[in-house]
Amino acid sequence: MKVLAIESSCDETAVAIVEDTALLSNTLASQIDIHKKYGGVVPEIAARHHLEILASLVDETLERAGLSVYEIDVFAATYGPGLVGSLLVGLSFAKALALALGKPFVAVNHLHGHLYANLISFPDLNPPFLVLLVSGGHTELFFLNSWDSMKRIGKTRDDAAGEAFDKVARLLGLGYPGGPEIERIAKSGEEKYNFPRSLREKGNYDFSFSGLKTSVLYFMRKNPEAKVEDIAASFQAAVVDSLLSKTFAAAAEYGVKEIVFAGGVAANRYLRNKAQVLSKDKYNLYFPPIELCTDNAAMIAMAAYNKAKRGEFSPLDTNAVPYLQF
Ligand code: KG4
Ligand code: ZN
Repeated sequence: MKVLAIESSCDETAVAIVEDTALLSNTLASQIDIHKKYGGVVPEIAARHHLEILASLVDETLERAGLSVYEIDVFAATYGPGLVGSLLVGLSFAKALALALGKPFVAVNHLHGHLYANLISFPDLNPPFLVLLVSGGHTELFFLNSWDSMKRIGKTRDDAAGEAFDKVARLLGLGYPGGPEIERIAKSGEEKYNFPRSLREKGNYDFSFSGLKTSVLYFMRKNPEAKVEDIAASFQAAVVDSLLSKTFAAAAEYGVKEIVFAGGVAANRYLRNKAQVLSKDKYNLYFPPIELCTDNAAMIAMAAYNKAKRGEFSPLDTNAVPYLQF
């Protein structure tokens, strides 16, 4: 089964084609340079840019896979969560292709997509497992008992982990998006400052990062001589410590041996290394390939393939759902 999927929920226009579990082609047109000067994504500009570029990106993706559009069996797109204008562009395009070519359509939850990015490297991955989903908009811990039975056991009470990286990067005068910038600069810094880890009570799997961001701000005001590299390293250590201590505590409580990581922050090498160290070979850890942690269409195509295989197709009146949950 050949699936062509479109992802346009935020500022990346992305198209991918899978044939069953094999990734045939994967393209991405990032708008980062356009939004950089505003310090974040401007929704209307993002939507307009998707509209301009999507048709040629679909052509290029087909060309790279050596396929014509008539050979595609299923069309798919992200329908939420995300920016409504951005979502509508990819969703309308995929539905129009399905309608014109008389092929089925699959609407994909972007958050499921992040999880399914793992199946590109680990096609046999199966629940039960624990998932730490850490992106720019979400920080959530799930226990998946089966593919359609999941329990959310923790979530952020304020900022998402990626959002905290982006906000602290801005405080430190670094570029957007902040996560990769902080990771890069932290490599030459020392973890010498002890920033707070919140909600430490046993059995509490919620996260909170807004207090951490504020304490970085106050620290910088009080200590103008402190090196940006050291603050970045200490901040990154605090975020990763919060994420991982709760994840491993939950894995122990739920008696699971498999832990799956997903979302943009899972690209962070410091987090990946720390997780391996803490795991001490007691757990099997799964990370998507670094380039498939952040938004892409390969993960949407993989999720769509699995839905289509189960016969879960979507009607052509499927609308965008900006606040869709996992
Ligand atoms: O999953 P994603 O691409 O988009 C959302 O669905 O939100 O995640 C983007 C977020 C941004 O906040 C970005 O700063 C963060 O992921 N991020 C990272 C890294 N790469 C991206 N955070 C920490 N370290 C990284 N290497
Ligand atoms: Zn995402």
